[in-house]
Amino acid sequence: MSNRPQLTTEGGAPVADNQHSQTAGATGPVLLQDHYLLEKLARFNRERIPERVVHAVGSGAYGYFEVTNPNVSRFTRMKLFNAKGKRTEVFVRFSTVAGSKGAPDTARDPRGFAVRFYTEDGNWDLVGNNTPTFFLRDGIKFPDFIHSQKYDPFTNCQEPDNQWDFFSHSPEATHQFTWLFGDRGIPATLRHMDGFGSHTFQWVNAQGERFWVKFHFKTDQGIKTLTSDEAAAIGGRDPQHHQRDLYAAIARGEYPSWTLKVQVMPEADAATYRFNPFDLTKVWPHKDYPLIEVGKMVLDRAPDNFFAEVEQAALDPANFVPGIGPSPDRMLQARLFAYADAARYRLGINHTQLPVNSPKGVKGGARNYGRDGAMRFDGNGGRSKNYEPNSFNGPAQSNEPSGLGVSVSGSTGTYVPVRHAEDNDFVQAGNLYRLMTEPERERLVANIAGSLSQVSREDIITRSIAHFRNADEEYGARVAAAVHKLRHSR
Ligand code: HEM
Repeated sequence: MSNRPQLTTEGGAPVADNQHSQTAGATGPVLLQDHYLLEKLARFNRERIPERVVHAVGSGAYGYFEVTNPNVSRFTRMKLFNAKGKRTEVFVRFSTVAGSKGAPDTARDPRGFAVRFYTEDGNWDLVGNNTPTFFLRDGIKFPDFIHSQKYDPFTNCQEPDNQWDFFSHSPEATHQFTWLFGDRGIPATLRHMDGFGSHTFQWVNAQGERFWVKFHFKTDQGIKTLTSDEAAAIGGRDPQHHQRDLYAAIARGEYPSWTLKVQVMPEADAATYRFNPFDLTKVWPHKDYPLIEVGKMVLDRAPDNFFAEVEQAALDPANFVPGIGPSPDRMLQARLFAYADAARYRLGINHTQLPVNSPKGVKGGARNYGRDGAMRFDGNGGRSKNYEPNSFNGPAQSNEPSGLGVSVSGSTGTYVPVRHAEDNDFVQAGNLYRLMTEPERERLVANIAGSLSQVSREDIITRSIAHFRNADEEYGARVAAAVHKLRHSR
């Protein structure tokens, strides 16, 4: 007798033979009555769920966040920041944006940097990227943008024509394109890159004072990047290179860590700041709003099961806790709807019950009157009442005002954002270019030209180069020359 556990059917009955189907005699066909065979094949057929519509390729890890500077509590009443040394469990998922599952994780693409803090006041999800900015400033453009970046409806390939056509009509993307085609567009590992909340959020402190805040995770491992050629070679050999590196580092006890810093703007500054502080295509220069350290995030545990904990993770920028909320950033506002909606489609209404998604920092877990739905797999509230208000001591509202708020005026409608003195699609892109060393500029121009030169239409190329020229005359001229050279050498 083996001391291995008994193999069973899904119904728990012992399986006697897991190697041979039931057949009509030793030489005959397989029998329909072989329920175990049918169950095994049927389950296999249902293993796949929809992949994330973006950010499908990803890796996750658990760890903790520890406060080093509780002084930030003068800006926010978020409890996780209120004491030195206070630790909060985190789950982080890193990802690439455009590729479908199986695509190399070394692609040139922004990296998702999505952090869930399991706080005592509920899950706070900071679903950011490794870029402080984004390609767009209004969520209404996001589906079109993603269509232009992912697979073409006819060729089923990523098409430079589509990518650059969209860009050529979207000058606000010049800053992020300059970032993406620069060295930081391909991190050497997930450990060697920074992370950003990217958007501007609102903080409110215990006295009800409001601030605007941006979050920066600075890698303690230092920045390391790959060139396009290095990434192509590594990704060709091992499409899960970054995933493997992350798990290997954790297994070696080399726990990757990041220092969390914030930029804080007093509420009233927003109206008169030199550019729109809610425009996601722009950074706030550190000289205007210096970085303030908050604490350290350490990743020290790989999930035991990728599907259960990483594929089924559903992070949501609308998961806020007392002390923080959204700003009027039009991208963020669209995202407040998109993620929970995507998770209901991808995972179902009860995805919030899954261990990785449930608010495990909250004593007693989530308590509300939501019930039933497909695959409700906890006790569904047992005998307790499923309506509110009730006379049976069910959970009740806190009556604590959030303190958050945005002053508004005017009538509803579709508006071009109010212009601030220095609002311009190109200034920060040009600044980024001018900040680069000569070898960095060379690689940037070569990377852009390598892609842009594959475009089939002159008008798309001309419009795209004009954006780079607007950012910096030299930048545009160099891209134009490099594209010309490549197109005429083919
Ligand atoms: C994933 C929508 C902009 C970062 C997703 C998903 C959707 C989505 C539907 C898949 C979610 C899921 O299936 O669980 C949008 C929309 C946007 C937008 C509508 C613009 C209006 C952004 C921006 C950032 C970002 C600006 C970063 C600053 C991410 C990350 C993930 C993601 C990191 C992966 C989350 C995870 O690891 O599970 N996005 N997105 N997205 N998005 Fe966005």
